[in-house]
Amino acid sequence: PITGRTLSRIRPVIAGNWKLNHSPAAATEFLQAFLPRVVDSPAEIVFFPPAITFQAVREALASRGAIDVGVQNVYWEDSGAFTGEISASMAAEAGATHALIGHSERRQLFGETNEHARRKVEAVLAAGLQAILCVGETLEERESNRAEEVVLRQLEVGLAGVAAEGRQALLLAYEPVWAIGTGRTASPDDAAEMHRRIREFLVQKFGKDGRSTPVLYGGSVKPDNAAQLLAADEVGGLLVGGASLDPEQFARICRAACPSDLEKSASREK
Ligand code: 13P
Repeated sequence: PITGRTLSRIRPVIAGNWKLNHSPAAATEFLQAFLPRVVDSPAEIVFFPPAITFQAVREALASRGAIDVGVQNVYWEDSGAFTGEISASMAAEAGATHALIGHSERRQLFGETNEHARRKVEAVLAAGLQAILCVGETLEERESNRAEEVVLRQLEVGLAGVAAEGRQALLLAYEPVWAIGTGRTASPDDAAEMHRRIREFLVQKFGKDGRSTPVLYGGSVKPDNAAQLLAADEVGGLLVGGASLDPEQFARICRAACPSDLEKSASREK
């Protein structure tokens, strides 16, 4: 039996990262079309809208308490002279449940480092939110056989401040940069290989409790490949970009992905 793995944690996490898409009006329209399509979905669904769309999503979800809303980024300070930033504590007060940290676009386009990710993870956990730390190698790093080294370094530094108790609010997302927005998905075997390596790291760091930290896969997830990716070893959910912008596609991912993952979890429990 896998101890410390609660029932809610066995549910796959299906997260939609909208990036810089969907205004408040567009989000409301999206949810009107999406919600009737995911009634009774066993997935734990989380949306990451742009910060300015956050409240519109919360309002449109009011009657659906089971769906969470998070922020795509935070700054590590609580308040002060940091123009353009939002803090984890403000996000929590506004009703956020999760924060993405260290997404590859933050790293590549906005100069975020592993050290920034570490400070943000700590701020997010201190604010009582769940942190989803994103890791993943570039194509160049993969082709020079450095994928594992890069990902382990991102984990080591990014999680340096997380103690065993903190890991209960921690999720990870493995998103190979070469698979993001390219239509080129990691094969389920490639994904499983890195996910197993990440699991090893978590168990080394947190002991057997490290078995229960969900590790999501992201990178060109679509309705046609979702179930296969979710069935891969150690994949506990999906972080979806482009396909989460379309209500029908995202609902298909939420629905199609669920049964196989629940079976996998059930067989692991034995
Ligand atoms: P795509 O699904 O568009 O490849 O984006 C993945 C991603 O970056 C999710 O955070």
